[in-house]
Amino acid sequence: MRDERLVTVERLPEDEEAKALRPRTLDEYVGQSRVKDNLRIFIEAAKRRRESLDHVLLYGPPGLGKTTLAGIIAAELGVHLRVTSGPAIERSGDLAAILTNLEPGDVLFIDEIHRLAKSAEEVLYAAMEDFRLDIVIGKGPMARALRLDLAPFTLIGATTRAGLISGPLRDRFGVIHRLDYYSVEELVLIVRRLAERLGAFIEPEAALAIAERARGTPRIAGRLFRRVRDFAEVLGDGAITLDVARAALDRMEVDPLGLDLLDRRLLRALIETYGGGPAGLETLAATIGEDARTLEEVYEPYLLKLGLIGRTPRGRIATAAAYRYFGFAPPGEAASEETACAEFSFRAVPARATDGEDG
Ligand SMILES: Nc1ncnc2c1ncn2[C@@H]1O[C@H](COP(=O)(O)OP(=O)(O)OP(=O)(O)O)[C@@H](O)[C@H]1O
Ligand SMILES: [Mg+2]
Repeated sequence: MRDERLVTVERLPEDEEAKALRPRTLDEYVGQSRVKDNLRIFIEAAKRRRESLDHVLLYGPPGLGKTTLAGIIAAELGVHLRVTSGPAIERSGDLAAILTNLEPGDVLFIDEIHRLAKSAEEVLYAAMEDFRLDIVIGKGPMARALRLDLAPFTLIGATTRAGLISGPLRDRFGVIHRLDYYSVEELVLIVRRLAERLGAFIEPEAALAIAERARGTPRIAGRLFRRVRDFAEVLGDGAITLDVARAALDRMEVDPLGLDLLDRRLLRALIETYGGGPAGLETLAATIGEDARTLEEVYEPYLLKLGLIGRTPRGRIATAAAYRYFGFAPPGEAASEETACAEFSFRAVPARATDGEDG
């Protein structure tokens, strides 16, 4: 069995507490201001015209708040939210059943929409465009085409892989937004609000320490926060001080850049086993014992953002920043006294490892 990884952005089952803490209004939703500003206008306009909101496609790395935002949009519109996902819809009939049950103005949220079966996707085209359902029932000579009118609705699609969405489907979304990684300041705010709502005392420096390690991702910030709170309650009097936060985060082996054991294993494999690369994704995945898709969707985007790895047509490469992160001299750079003997120590390197990042 695989250890439960703390910084993972994969969806672990969310407990009731986490669900109850999800922001419920656009005002409570921290960050992503460009997306929020636009949505506010579109929602207001749709309400005034008493029309359904245009279909919305949200994409971006996992844990940045796509599902949360879909819930907020429905709440702000004052309509029902129906939730399903690409893999859950096995046949076009499944989708037809959902669509015919929608009430005027409702929001249908399809998570992982890039994994929708082709037949279901084709049913969606007319549904999105004309609020019409064209289905064929029966087979062979008995087959009959059936056309049904649907209530006007809003489809919100979410995906971590915008590139996998077909052109015709993409074209039917009136509003397309990419969610970006959050700034440390935004994550501090998220952590402080969580503490406030849970009635926990947290020092500002402790909130900062958690936010810095959260990989720009609210889901991870929440998870780290709740673990740190456990430490504070069990080992202290419940107050989340900087000392408690540091001790807890160190025990979780999350470094100040938010990298954990698997990230470090990946970088080391790239540097030590493959001489800095390029190494193919599948090869790397096999080397560190992780699934290639998870590597690509969950780990890689953040390592790319930090400028620790690069993507080339022939595979992934370790950047100079990755070498320095471990205290190694980048290839072609004369090993200085300091880097040559620096043992692996992530405490000393974060400032340098981010050097390579633009803006
Ligand atoms: N802008 C935000 N402000 C405050 N909390 C947020 C924000 N965005 C996300 N969260 C919190 O982060 C967690 C993850 O959010 P969510 O499940 O919506 O992400 P997601 O993008 O749908 O992820 P996935 O791609 O894995 O489905 C939730 O617990 C939510 O409360
Ligand atoms: Mg989601």
